[in-house]
Amino acid sequence: MMDIALHERPHAATRYRHISVAPLNPTIGAVVGGVDLTMPFGEDVADELRRVLAEHLVIFFHDQPIDFDAHRRLAAVFGEAHVAPSTVPWQVPGYPEITRMHADANSTFVAGEDWHSDMSCDPAPPMGSILYLHTLPTLGGDTVFSSMYAAYDALSDGMKARIAGLRAVHDGVKAFGDIVPEGMALPRSSHPVVRTHPVTGRKALYVNRSYTTRIEGLSERESDALLAFLNEHVQNPMFQCRFTWRPHAIAVWDNRCSQHMAIWDYFPQVRSGYRIQVKGEVPE
Ligand code: SIN
Repeated sequence: MMDIALHERPHAATRYRHISVAPLNPTIGAVVGGVDLTMPFGEDVADELRRVLAEHLVIFFHDQPIDFDAHRRLAAVFGEAHVAPSTVPWQVPGYPEITRMHADANSTFVAGEDWHSDMSCDPAPPMGSILYLHTLPTLGGDTVFSSMYAAYDALSDGMKARIAGLRAVHDGVKAFGDIVPEGMALPRSSHPVVRTHPVTGRKALYVNRSYTTRIEGLSERESDALLAFLNEHVQNPMFQCRFTWRPHAIAVWDNRCSQHMAIWDYFPQVRSGYRIQVKGEVPE
């Protein structure tokens, strides 16, 4: 557990010595400055980056033209990188943990077009992602993030009691079934509908529209109705921030307490960069 009480939020300037922090709103998202991520940095800076992510759920950096080694260094601040199977065609040669994220006039889909928490179909989904974009369309291509702490906190006590202890199935086929080669195995896992964040100790709603297929122990109609309600609930703008990218910006998000959605409103223009996912734990 981190030695900060995240419910008490003293003024950021008094809490960070090495970085500047400009929250986007009181709920989620902050732009972080005062650090050059293209160069090695010390553990004191790394510690503040971990703390600011825990506090704001998703953090953004501008004007950071990082190379693959710097990307790897930033990811290591948050944990061990997840390496996708070598069959994944968009891996960067020599950097198996780095995935190319690219959309252009030939794209038929883009990653993350609907609300999701990354790879929630995995038994131990990635705790976070570090996305660096070097090329952006002239307009559009924003990413929207939603706080699953805020979504949980806004539920009535009756609904909190109803979903306490429930588990839901997250199925990779729902998210990727249409785009992977036929017969390719995709993970499916059962996770708690409400998970407790291992760093902050706060409760977060953990179902999403891209992966979650079924709440266990309910009839299909009951499960569909409850999931429809929860998936609609998390879309409340009160829980959200929206990031407008500039070339060489970076977003780091915590999948354990947020969802996000990439807005593909720029076709046929190019949006391009690289992503590393950081290993996570089995949701509790
Ligand atoms: C993702 O869901 O990992 C992609 C987000 C984005 O491209 O903005």
